[in-house]
Amino acid sequence: MNDLAMKLNSVLDGTVAGRLLSKSGRRYYFPHGIIAQSAESKQGAHRANATIGMAYKGGKPLLASSIADSLPTLSAEETVAYAPTAGVMEARQLWRDLLLQKNPSINPEHISLPVVVPGITAGISYMADLFLDEGIPIVTSDPCWDNYGLIFRDRRGADIIAVPFFGSGPEKLPGLDLPAISAAVKDAAKSGAIRIILNFPNNPSGYSPTREEADALVALIQQITRQGADVLVICDDAYFGLFYEENTGSESLFARLASLDERVLAIKIDGPTKEDYAWGFRMAFVTFGSQGLTAGHFDALVQKLMGVIRSSVSCSNTPVQYLMLRILADPRTIREKESFYTLLRRRYRLVKDFITQNPGHPYLEPLPFNSGYFMSFRCHGIDADLLRKRLLAEHGIGVIALGMDYLRVAFSSIDEELILEVYRKIYETAQKTGEENRTGDLRHECRSG
Ligand SMILES: Cc1ncc(COP(=O)(O)O)c(C=O)c1O
Repeated sequence: MNDLAMKLNSVLDGTVAGRLLSKSGRRYYFPHGIIAQSAESKQGAHRANATIGMAYKGGKPLLASSIADSLPTLSAEETVAYAPTAGVMEARQLWRDLLLQKNPSINPEHISLPVVVPGITAGISYMADLFLDEGIPIVTSDPCWDNYGLIFRDRRGADIIAVPFFGSGPEKLPGLDLPAISAAVKDAAKSGAIRIILNFPNNPSGYSPTREEADALVALIQQITRQGADVLVICDDAYFGLFYEENTGSESLFARLASLDERVLAIKIDGPTKEDYAWGFRMAFVTFGSQGLTAGHFDALVQKLMGVIRSSVSCSNTPVQYLMLRILADPRTIREKESFYTLLRRRYRLVKDFITQNPGHPYLEPLPFNSGYFMSFRCHGIDADLLRKRLLAEHGIGVIALGMDYLRVAFSSIDEELILEVYRKIYETAQKTGEENRTGDLRHECRSG
């Protein structure tokens, strides 16, 4: 193993982070190579800086006019120069300030400086590199974002423990199935370590915990640490801020988890993707949080993450980091974001009203939803993908089937005036499909009987 990796490991050994690192996580380090040496030269090379593989003239990177014209508010350096491996410092600091503003219960001493990664997906994948290996279990919600399977199971070889987060049937709880979650988490923690990814607002259900449920989740994690387990909680906060109901907390669970216990390592992955309506920017942040870690430990974790970044994409996109700084400094942004939020909440309300006014569909059971972009139906007695195909072929309506059991509708993408029509068609088509299935079954029974 590389000496630098061993040094970082020795800094982290004895902490929750050191205990949770995967085999590959232990191997990562940030080399004292080209990037580190050229960063050093940036400060001291007054005469000539011949370190980095870029082309400069008169102290500025060469810049094609077409690029300059396309990004007129950015300097040459902000447009085409490589960004630092962990991201542009101004962007990292601003994001940290915003994190503290949006989540006032975060104790600033218990978190690292956010690191820029090329999108939340990349952030999740990098955390999988650091903390998961072949056969290591990770708890996810069921249903969850389908990319978790590809990242954790197919890419990293980890074992997914998919915990049904929502009950079913007449006895089901109105929100999270806390008894089922608690039993599964306690069971998984018996090995002495547990890794969990929490995604609220959730894709695909559109659910975020109520304040009481959030308290219960935090209490559950506290309980398992008291029984001696180390806990890694990755908070995939992609849809952070899109909370539509009063009884949902407005802060990320990360805020409390980061200060909960020395045995908890919380990781917040978030970014402008959805929060700032900049989906294609491919920019996000990873922030580590733990009561048990010092600035030196956070630095070691950041160095390891920089090793992951350097060995995969080298660094994130430069212009979007500066564009994000411009966007967040622009006084129009707050007002526009409020109006986007209001628009999404109105769509949410319409969907909610439709569901409330049309209860008891025989084939579609809406999962609880109160936030984010989506809501999902659990399909009973009909195949979600068949329903999806019929909606597309017969009505020109596109939705997502998640396996055979769930149908996800992104109401965030449907213009307000179309929402009722779309939902009526979904209900009617599901009804038709279910009835056809039943008559088919009856015919089959008659023939075979
Ligand atoms: C739960 C969840 N996490 C992460 C992402 C991806 O974020 P990004 O586009 O920043 O990679 C999505 C996007 O669909 C998502 O639904």
